[in-house]
Amino acid sequence: MSNRKIAVAGATGNVGREILNILAERKFPASEVVALASRNSVGQKVSYGNKELTVQALEDFDFTGTKIGLFSPGGAVSAIHAPRAAAQGCVVIDNTSHFRMDPNVPLVVPEVNPQAISDYKKSGIIANPNCSTIQMVVALKPLHDLATIKRIVVATYQAVSGAGKEAMDELFDSTKKIYTNQMPTPKKFSKRIAFNVIPQIDSFMEDGATKEEWKMKVETKKIFGSDKIQVEATCVRVPVFNCHSEAVNVEFEKPITVKQARAALEEADGVLVLDRPQEMVFATPVETSTHDAVFVSRLRKDDSVANGLSLWVVADNLKKGAALNAVQIAEILVKDHGF
Ligand SMILES: NC(=O)c1ccc[n+]([C@@H]2O[C@H](COP(=O)([O-])OP(=O)(O)OC[C@H]3O[C@@H](n4cnc5c(N)ncnc54)[C@H](OP(=O)(O)O)[C@@H]3O)[C@@H](O)[C@H]2O)c1
Repeated sequence: MSNRKIAVAGATGNVGREILNILAERKFPASEVVALASRNSVGQKVSYGNKELTVQALEDFDFTGTKIGLFSPGGAVSAIHAPRAAAQGCVVIDNTSHFRMDPNVPLVVPEVNPQAISDYKKSGIIANPNCSTIQMVVALKPLHDLATIKRIVVATYQAVSGAGKEAMDELFDSTKKIYTNQMPTPKKFSKRIAFNVIPQIDSFMEDGATKEEWKMKVETKKIFGSDKIQVEATCVRVPVFNCHSEAVNVEFEKPITVKQARAALEEADGVLVLDRPQEMVFATPVETSTHDAVFVSRLRKDDSVANGLSLWVVADNLKKGAALNAVQIAEILVKDHGF
């Protein structure tokens, strides 16, 4: 195998561990894989297929000779170390929100805008979109190609794994506490997460929207390459461990029937239509977890607008919403860009 050294930064986290699993599962052609995290984790072991990797400190790591860096160490850390890695010749695929709207950084979902990857040359960094945005645009791309999206209204039901490993512990611990008549104190979340739903993901902005909702708007436009698409989002954290769900209403420029939409979705890369409501067949997070596909269910006409459809979209936010999307980008770098 040619010299293709890969670094995974954030390797002890939810996304980093999933990246290591997926690299091994898909037999990514790496000559060496290095696991990086904070200084606190140095010496810890993380699994990579049937091997164990010893964690090294991102801060001290020299990226010279490393071809691709798959980063998920948090925005503030990526802000420092992704450009440093890029300057040392390592192309970084970054999962954090830090570089997503930078005009010199392509924002890529392989099923939607793989052509944008070649812009990695501008900065040496490729951004992975937000998990909620990824699954929505994968489901909407075949419909956009058919009838051109005018407006999207989306409500999300987002799992706690999207907020990191401590957030998953908080759901577990607070659920246990409620069962034993103790009152949990929220830490990662602004309100109690057990047996509750929280209409706040990321911080509030001046206009009353949250940053997560803003990300869904601006990232969707950047990925589709269209400022004309209008997006309204309400993002909600729910007490589900893994997999984000979304109720999506879409208005199109041109007429589109449910039959046409279903046929296009059934053909689309990365989409699995699970939609036989009469037989109670539709996707929920429990069935979707650990799968690669974006699941589409409840496809139906939205009569409240001229050319409208409604659909339910579920995906594993750690896989397609983060790690898998990043690894797919790395695979394209290898296949089409000589890495
Ligand atoms: N979870 C998702 O669905 C999802 C989806 C898309 C994007 N993202 C983004 O990906 C990033 C990580 O998310 P996550 O869910 O994996 O979080 P997480 O489970 O909390 O893991 C955070 C990782 O970052 C590492 N880290 C923290 N500070 C560091 C430092 N100073 N230097 C080096 N490494 C450091 C941690 O290492 P230690 O263990 O040593 O602290 C850990 O490996 C976030 O920016 C998040 O917004 C997450």
